Amino acid sequence: MKRRDRTLITHTGNNPKGNKGIVNPPVYHASTILFDNVADMRARGRDKFNNVYYGRYGTPTTFALEETVAALEEADRAVAVPSGMGAIAGALLSFVGTGDHVLMVDSVYEPTRFFCDSQLKKFGVETTYYDPLIGAGIADLIGPNTKVVYLESPGSHTFEIQDVPAIATAAHARGCVVIMDNTWASPLYFKPYRHGVDLVVHAATKYLVGHSDVMMGIITMRDEYFKQVKTQVHGMGFAVGGDDCYLALRGIRTLSARLAQHQEGALILAKWLQSRPEVERVLHPALPDHPGHQLWKRDFLGSTGLFGVVLKPAAEERVNAMIDGMELFGLGFSWGGYESLIVPSALTTARTATKWDAAGPTVRLHAGLEDPQDLIEDLASGLDRLRGN
Ligand SMILES: Cc1ncc(COP(=O)(O)O)c(C=O)c1O
Repeated sequence: MKRRDRTLITHTGNNPKGNKGIVNPPVYHASTILFDNVADMRARGRDKFNNVYYGRYGTPTTFALEETVAALEEADRAVAVPSGMGAIAGALLSFVGTGDHVLMVDSVYEPTRFFCDSQLKKFGVETTYYDPLIGAGIADLIGPNTKVVYLESPGSHTFEIQDVPAIATAAHARGCVVIMDNTWASPLYFKPYRHGVDLVVHAATKYLVGHSDVMMGIITMRDEYFKQVKTQVHGMGFAVGGDDCYLALRGIRTLSARLAQHQEGALILAKWLQSRPEVERVLHPALPDHPGHQLWKRDFLGSTGLFGVVLKPAAEERVNAMIDGMELFGLGFSWGGYESLIVPSALTTARTATKWDAAGPTVRLHAGLEDPQDLIEDLASGLDRLRGN
């Protein structure tokens, strides 16, 4: 029977009947796995990606996590890796080699850009950046050696919404694999496989783990790509520890409740910020005046806690004073935990195919699970400091 998301989140990966009635799966710590005899070793080795064979290939704790994320994303399989960046590197390297070409969205998470410009370049793979709003026009950029079209929607820091189905259709017509970073929406609020994506990467570090205490990446895929991806990430030596898998799975159990509250809190803050004279515009795709709102409404099932704010032109010291004095918004990287965060966005150096046109500075906010009224009061004091009061 096909279960709905909140039910999948609650039950997938658990097997109390096979575990003495204990609700959660046990945490296996394993490197060596002992075999009954040589024949058993050989038999398990013939299908080592689907068996308990050696610690690096995963344990039942890893499999419980992977099964849960795959089910939620409507994928066939998932592979856990040690960070979101590991998922991005593993996914890209599964499909490209010397002489190949990647089309990469210009609003991509900056370390992904760095990976393409340094690591992929070193292997002789060329990257071309494209306008996030290109849609079906991506067809004009696809060359005979283009292997991957990579998307991230909304864009990191700038929150453009991509026309995923239009891009995927054009990419498939030329035999390219479509990879998408779906970290912002999580598997709950965007279903990439319904829109033509072939492979999905997550920084599980963010909403899936949800508590700012574990680094983790997850790649999801259809069956046809599983062996290729697992071979690649295994070859890179990626393995995740049992305790981290357990924490990620534990985080996922409350994903729907947390995301509903992140969504609500972020929208309250975004609307309040829109009313403020210090604010030029708010970059949140669920706001009706966001340029990507119609696409977001068509394709997404919700919005989360992360959004941007373009301020009216202000001196850097004033922006720093605003950020430094925050009491509830922490200054730090990552997001998706239960706490609120703020970071200045460095946008002028972060793109090459398009130009970021805002006159004023941009900051990125993550609305945590605190009371939105308290967060508004913190922001209001921050805007006072921005004005120099
Ligand atoms: C959109 C996005 N993708 C990937 C990553 C990388 O994840 P990790 O920090 O787990 O390597 C991040 C981290 O901030 C991110 O924001």
